[in-house]
Amino acid sequence: MADVRVKGRDGSERTLDANGALPLMEVLRNAGCGVEGTCGGAMSCGTCHVYIADAWAARLPPKGEDEQMMLEALGDFVELRPGSRLSCQIPMTEELSGIEVEIAPAA
Ligand code: FES
Repeated sequence: MADVRVKGRDGSERTLDANGALPLMEVLRNAGCGVEGTCGGAMSCGTCHVYIADAWAARLPPKGEDEQMMLEALGDFVELRPGSRLSCQIPMTEELSGIEVEIAPAA
């Protein structure tokens, strides 16, 4: 079981259990954190944008070209940070237990 520490758009904090190797997006969406994930992980909606805490960002799989392009498009509407990621591209593994995530504003 892997824990996800989430800071919501309203500043509230909670810890979720990520059972199985779901993408982080699905963990957040299933818990009603305000992540919509409307494209289902196809990197075309940007509604799964999160800010990963610095200590965790370097431990994630690197961004692919499509993810980078989607994030750059989001940057026209919302703040991007070094830890900006599409949560649909982050498989939740045991190694990521304790990861700290902040839900980015809706674009
Ligand atoms: S779910 Fe649409 S970009 Fe991640």
